[in-house]
Amino acid sequence: MNKVAFISQSGNVMKSSLACAMAVECSSNGLDVAIADLDKEHRTVAQWLTTRIENEIEPTFPVHSVDSATDALNCFNNESLAIIDAPSRATSATALIAQNVDLVVLPTPPSKKDIDLSLSTLYQLVNDGVPMNRLVLVFTRVGSAAELNQAIEYVRMADFGDSSLQVLSSAIWERVGYRGAINDSYSITETSFQTLNDSAKGVVHQLLSKLLR
Ligand SMILES: Nc1ncnc2c1ncn2[C@@H]1O[C@H](COP(=O)(O)OP(=O)(O)O)[C@@H](O)[C@H]1O
Ligand SMILES: [Mg+2]
Repeated sequence: MNKVAFISQSGNVMKSSLACAMAVECSSNGLDVAIADLDKEHRTVAQWLTTRIENEIEPTFPVHSVDSATDALNCFNNESLAIIDAPSRATSATALIAQNVDLVVLPTPPSKKDIDLSLSTLYQLVNDGVPMNRLVLVFTRVGSAAELNQAIEYVRMADFGDSSLQVLSSAIWERVGYRGAINDSYSITETSFQTLNDSAKGVVHQLLSKLLR
């Protein structure tokens, strides 16, 4: 079983949206997949699944609402892909999850504040013994190509000693079409716009190739 976790300190950075999109893409391609929803406050993924079932949107897959990092790590039933949607700002839980998954994804909007938060989380995780090659930063809610380039340049200046930080070359744009899809319990790969879907699929596929390498 491969395990991937989406983590961040702040909310609204697309942890849940990316977790759902990865599950939809994998399930559509015949993979056995489940999500652990660890966000006690919002249960974004569990509610999203309930609405999908009500509206007969396919594919669906198991979503486990769990209350602790240990439960999140233990709730799966040998699916080929286990996805953990972590809550915002839960540092000890985050560390435990990161130490026990194959890939840790940090979705990060391109503001300096969000990048700095992700960098401090990354330093903490490396300190906690999580290998650098299991960590990947993906820029989300990006306004323009210029903003993406600037953000990549900024993050490249961070010093991780001998190892270098993995940053996805593809990013997710800030788009009304994504918001609308999420509102209607579709994934960001199932919007009404082919270009948005292809762009989101590009990010999901890059993440999967890192996970399955
Ligand atoms: N790329 C995007 N473009 C526009 N709105 C977005 C985008 N990504 C997320 N949103 C909005 O932000 C909300 C929070 O996203 P979500 O994935 O739940 O974040 P998190 O799980 O990190 O808190 C979504 O419900 C949606 O309204
Ligand atoms: Mg969430």
